[in-house]
Amino acid sequence: MSETRNVPKPSAGWGRSLLGWIDARFPLTKLWKSQVSEYYAPINFNFWYFFGSLALLVLVNQIVTGIFLAMSYQPNAHLAFGSIQYIMRDVHWGWLIRYMHTTGASLFFVVIYLHMFRGLLYGSYKKPRELLWILGMLIYVCLMAEAFMGYLMPWGQMSYWGAVVITSLFGAIPWVGSHLVIWVRGDFGVSGATLNRFFALHVVAIPLLLVFLVVCHLMALHEVGSNNPDGIEIHENLDENGKPVDGVPFHPYYTVKDLFGVGVFLIIFAIIVFYAPTLKGIFIDPINYKPANFLQTPPDIHPLWYFTPYYAILRSFPNKLFGVTAFMLAIVVLFFLPWIDRHPIKSVRYRAPCYRILLLAFAATFLFLGYIGMQPATLFWQKIGLRMSEIYFLFFVTSWTYARTPSNRRLLVTFALSLAVILWIDWRFYLPSIAALIWWTLLIPLCYLILFYLVPLLWPGGMRDRSVPTRVTLR
Ligand code: HEM
Repeated sequence: MSETRNVPKPSAGWGRSLLGWIDARFPLTKLWKSQVSEYYAPINFNFWYFFGSLALLVLVNQIVTGIFLAMSYQPNAHLAFGSIQYIMRDVHWGWLIRYMHTTGASLFFVVIYLHMFRGLLYGSYKKPRELLWILGMLIYVCLMAEAFMGYLMPWGQMSYWGAVVITSLFGAIPWVGSHLVIWVRGDFGVSGATLNRFFALHVVAIPLLLVFLVVCHLMALHEVGSNNPDGIEIHENLDENGKPVDGVPFHPYYTVKDLFGVGVFLIIFAIIVFYAPTLKGIFIDPINYKPANFLQTPPDIHPLWYFTPYYAILRSFPNKLFGVTAFMLAIVVLFFLPWIDRHPIKSVRYRAPCYRILLLAFAATFLFLGYIGMQPATLFWQKIGLRMSEIYFLFFVTSWTYARTPSNRRLLVTFALSLAVILWIDWRFYLPSIAALIWWTLLIPLCYLILFYLVPLLWPGGMRDRSVPTRVTLR
């Protein structure tokens, strides 16, 4: 007995001792297990599932590079433009930090749009993930506010005039509009006071809110579990140990997969930062290399690419109030998607051919609206913009119509009502000077309506869903 008493115990190692010390005071290992190493995710995640983790990566990039930029930036109307030049030329690695921030801003939207589109493809907004979707939409709105306010920081010509145009939109609100514009700007025009408050919101308030919302988003995700490309709930099919048969622990399986995505993303990110930081004026507008001048309006004011789809909607109505309402509605309607598309099948893989084409048409519409928003504000582009805006909203009407296999009567009634609304808009904003334009561009929504409402009458197979498998498929 005395022999064994003197044998020293193997050391636990300082790492394990430290972990034990922390675990006794904070649930670190418990959190790691519940959220990562024992969080079961479906085995069939594909390319579209890279973008959640990439969004996290870009969020961190924006916060870290933003902190370093704030160390040398001057939020003062007389000094702001010069301080950006100082960062670019004199601060050590300042150019790299700034380009990482500007490139990160654009790639954030690339990643988020792909992340959202994945939600549409696989019906990830449907029960039980409605709140997860709404939290995502809140993040998206915050991100838009964050990008809009950040764009004023360089105090260039487009920063200044972009802020003038967008803040003036509040003026369209009846009764209180003009007071609201002054309240938002903190002055009678966009000025140093506006720059100060946008700076405070851009570097402190909105990032805090964003981080809070992202934590809530992930908590909601882990509560309901991930959806997958087949739209099947893996937690409904458990093995004898209570683990999903079609699931694998997030770590190591998906941490490794996501690391691959991070590698590819960083290569693309570095190529842009080092070789094409302005991306031919798409990521940084050339007009913004001129300091803000409130006496000289640029010939063409437009936002950066990620806002142009909404900008096209805003500009397509000659009436400011209508334009602002349509622009707001275009974002608000996305919040209600879980209740608009209540079709029981989640994934587009098993939805009817007509719905697949509809989704594809929606993606194309959004991209085309983005293109239109970058074009000069001529009557031609305004009218085409109006037609594409109509199609944008028709996607939601059609999704709602397709949510239950529609009867022929329902298809015909929705066709007639949608056409009536379009003709009413034409009549409301009729301009004799563009009469011909109105008639031939009417073909655009008309073809859309015929395709999604009349063609299914002749092609019943176009409305037939496929049977959903009981287990996830590996493709
Ligand atoms: C900073 C912004 C965001 C971050 C960091 C983020 C992060 C994530 C992560 C890590 C996941 C799990 C991995 C994945 O499914 O790819 C996820 C899932 C999800 N996110 Fe986001 N997200 C953001 C914005 C959004 C937005 C704007 C929306 C939509 C409006 C959204 C909707 C969803 C949905 C529906 C899921 C579940 C998808 C599924 O399980 O199929 N997220 N998000």
